[in-house]
Amino acid sequence: MSYLMSNYAPLEVTFVKGEGCYLTDTKGDQYLDALSGVGVVGLGHCHKDITAAIQMQAGTLLHTSNWYHIQHQETLAKKLCQLADMDTAFFGNSGAEANEAAIKIARLHGRANNIDNPVILTANQSFHGRTMATLSATGNEKVQNGFAPLVSEFIHVDFNDVDAITAHVNNANIVAIMLEPIQGESGVIIPADDYLNQVQDICQANDWLLILDEVQTGIGRTGKLFAHEHNNITPDVLTLAKGLGNGVPIGACLAKGKAATLFQPGSHGSTFGGNPLVCQTALTVLEVIEKNDILNNTIQMGEYLVSGFKSKLMNSDKVVEIRSKGLMLAIELNQDCSSLLKAALDKKLLLNITGQSIRLLPPLIINKAEADSIINTVCELIDTV
Ligand SMILES: Cc1ncc(COP(=O)(O)O)c(C=O)c1O
Repeated sequence: MSYLMSNYAPLEVTFVKGEGCYLTDTKGDQYLDALSGVGVVGLGHCHKDITAAIQMQAGTLLHTSNWYHIQHQETLAKKLCQLADMDTAFFGNSGAEANEAAIKIARLHGRANNIDNPVILTANQSFHGRTMATLSATGNEKVQNGFAPLVSEFIHVDFNDVDAITAHVNNANIVAIMLEPIQGESGVIIPADDYLNQVQDICQANDWLLILDEVQTGIGRTGKLFAHEHNNITPDVLTLAKGLGNGVPIGACLAKGKAATLFQPGSHGSTFGGNPLVCQTALTVLEVIEKNDILNNTIQMGEYLVSGFKSKLMNSDKVVEIRSKGLMLAIELNQDCSSLLKAALDKKLLLNITGQSIRLLPPLIINKAEADSIINTVCELIDTV
């Protein structure tokens, strides 16, 4: 019997070592990780520069407290704000915490405009985290089941539907709209090219904050450092986590303009948030991405995977659609394919199944041979359903 709570249902494998795109289990067997720890280790497992940064910082200073200045935090805030064209940053420890900060900023924005009951629009089929506020923001009843009463004042609208948003412009209590640029957990759902641009226009016309949850799409995953760069827009609030730390727990909430100064001393905090260890690691992640042209590899390898899948699956009557942006990819089948999770593990490949879709989030450093291996194994798996 396990002493762990039963909230996870792990597969029958334990990994003891990681290197690049590969993990090794207790028996010494190697697995190709096409999921990157759910979009976390974008630079691969135990990247030498990241390991060196962690070792150096662990031997220098791990933690002080946010009651004192933390130079690494200042440096990381400046770097991220410059890269994302934002003004200020708050650091927490996870994606959910980054989104909690964003939700609190939205409520303060409402208060600043004398709105007592601020409402945030979010999307159906979205995922924003597992804390009470973020699961209430999430547009998925499975995530919410059992946890009522939910945090109120979230209105869910269909994703990729501008009219569903404009239907609410007369609601004077709305203060923000919070969206993933591409919905990750619900199976890589990519909106129309100009959807986010139109949403931004609506936000600007109504003094709503545009909050983009880039916890999964950020830090290079889609071939740009931030997915919203594909639209040439800048949100008012931007949340990041996952790939930012390449495995160390860090979340960031960046804000711009009027949203940037709403937190005042006492408004928000986190004991561990933005400690020297995680900030130094995140700085090194950003450096490695820049120095090694990781975004270019992400675009090239994303295209390589898609064209490989397309040519091999052209005649498959099981494939409904292939959706992708950079190295965020889903193959939707015409039937439930949950059995493929275990079948892939047996073939030493790690991937995710979301309903009828196979979801892949390989490390951004993947090479052609590794991509070929993913293509071959996934196509063999599809043949078996
Ligand atoms: C878009 C998005 N937001 C938020 C989260 C929650 O992040 P965390 O699990 O780090 O709290 C996730 C996690 O999958 C996510 O994909």
